[in-house]
Formats: sequence, structure tokens, C-alpha cells
Amino acid sequence: MLKKILGKAVTTLAGRDDFAIPEHDSPLFADVDWDRLPRHVAVIMDGNGRWAKGQGMLRTAGHSAGVKTLKNILKTAIGLQLDALTVYAFSTENWKRPEAEVNFLMNLFSEYLKKELQEMHEDNVQIHFIGRLEGLPAALQKQMREAEELMKDNTGVKFNIAANYGGQDELIRAMQNIAVEVQNGKLSPEDIDEALLEDNLDTAGNLPVDLMIRTSGDMRLSNFLLWQAAYAEFYFTDVPWPEFSPECFVDAMKAFSHRDRRFGGLDNK
Ligand code: IPE
Ligand code: IPE
Ligand code: MG
Repeated sequence: MLKKILGKAVTTLAGRDDFAIPEHDSPLFADVDWDRLPRHVAVIMDGNGRWAKGQGMLRTAGHSAGVKTLKNILKTAIGLQLDALTVYAFSTENWKRPEAEVNFLMNLFSEYLKKELQEMHEDNVQIHFIGRLEGLPAALQKQMREAEELMKDNTGVKFNIAANYGGQDELIRAMQNIAVEVQNGKLSPEDIDEALLEDNLDTAGNLPVDLMIRTSGDMRLSNFLLWQAAYAEFYFTDVPWPEFSPECFVDAMKAFSHRDRRFGGLDNK
């Protein structure tokens, strides 16, 4: 019972409805080292199902709670003036789940877009979807394209949502595109370098991932951003996604600020 009450209280905090973009001088950002923030943050939003079960609810209730968390984390990322936030919403492996859960998730994406689109646009967000989008329901694909179109001239945070995304699948698609160019004689094999491959990834135009966050205790990449995370710092927390609050996100930023990134070189402190 106590766990239930505590769980609910924390959720309201993480998913509170009245959370506005925090100002630079907000108490939330009190100890933030603004000169040592990541520019591109990726998040594996994990633990919705386990959290819901723990509360005596259906797994799907965890996904609904997770949407609220996402809204507030995006607002926090805007307040921090991050360059990009990339979140893992549905993997190429998640089709293995029961059909009812998959359908629920597809509907949830659709509802989320309907409900949040205008506000994200007003917040100057540039939304972009990554993954094998043609594998998603046609109506959802249309909504995604419309959302991207609406926000294409915005200049704020790049908000990438990974749906039917797998890092291996993304690399294969990139290689297929390049192979066609080689076959057509537009490129020769020697032209293939890191920059060319990056230009053919779904994340083209984004900086490399500086910080990779995974909630809910597991310590694995689950096929997320395999190329882009080559030199990312990793931050794992036991907090399940529905309880991951703006404060938790800022804690991850602070941890990042203390990391010593050497990129294979020597300590330059
Ligand atoms: C993450 O939460 C959301 C998706 C994968 C869609 P999970 O649904 O994986 O929740 P757990 O990890 O089973 O608790
Ligand atoms: C990764 O979480 C995918 C998303 C968060 C969308 P999973 O819950 O699917 O990953 P595994 O199965 O624990 O590796
Ligand atoms: Mg999971």
C-alpha cells in the first residue's frame, strides 16, 4: 500500500501536467555547469511495463504514464538549450510483443502527435522521426510526415523520435543506399568514408550522441544508435521511465559534466 501511494506521488511529480519550460535561472538548473553540457542526448525510455505492474496496473498504463514523462523531459531539454534529444519509442524488436500492446503503442503515438503537436511547434521544436517508418501503420506515417513538415523551419531543439528503429537496420539501409550509388557509377568505393555513411543515416544533420541515458536498471543498448553512440558517455539509472523527472534528467547532465572524455587521446585537464 505504501509503495502504491509513494509510486503515485512520484509519478505526479515526474509527469505533472503544469510543467513549463524552465528558465535559465530556475532552481532546477541551480548546479548545472552550462559550459559542460552534452549537445546531443539520447534516451532509452525503459521500464514502463514493470513500473505499471508494480502499481497493480496493466503494462499499457505504464506507456501512457511514460508519455507524460517525455513531455516534461522535452521541456527540460529545451530549457537546457540542448541541440538534440533522441528518444527510443519502439524498436524493430518490439514487434515480438503481444499484438494488443503493439496496437496500443501505435495508437498512443498517434494520440500523442494529435495532442502535443501544436505546443511543440510553439516551443520551436524540430521534430523528426527515425527508423523504418514504412513498416508503421499508414495513417501514423502520414501524421509523422505532417508533423515534420509543420516544424521543418523551426530552429529549437532537434527532437528525434525512434519508431520501428533498429541501429542494425538503419546501417543496412544506409549501406543499401550507398551501394546503389556505387552501382550507378555516382560513387566509387573509395568515396565511402565516415561522413558519407553518416549522411545516409536517419540522423543525418545531427551531432554525434554525447550522452546515452537508459532508465529502469538494464545496462544495454538494445540496438539503439549503434553508430552514433560510438563515443557517447553512458548513464544508467534504476528509476523507471514513468518516474524519471526533470530533476533526474538534470542529475544525468551533472554526471556528464564530470566525465573526462578523452576520445582516445590523453587527459587534457
Ligand atoms: C519501454 O518500456 C517502452 C517500450 C519498449 C515501448 P517497456 O515496455 O520495455 O517496459 P519494461 O521494460 O517491460 O518494464
Ligand atoms: C528498448 O527497450 C526499446 C525501447 C525503449 C523502445 P526494450 O524493453 O524493448 O529492450 P530489451 O528487450 O529490454 O532489450
Ligand atoms: Mg523494456
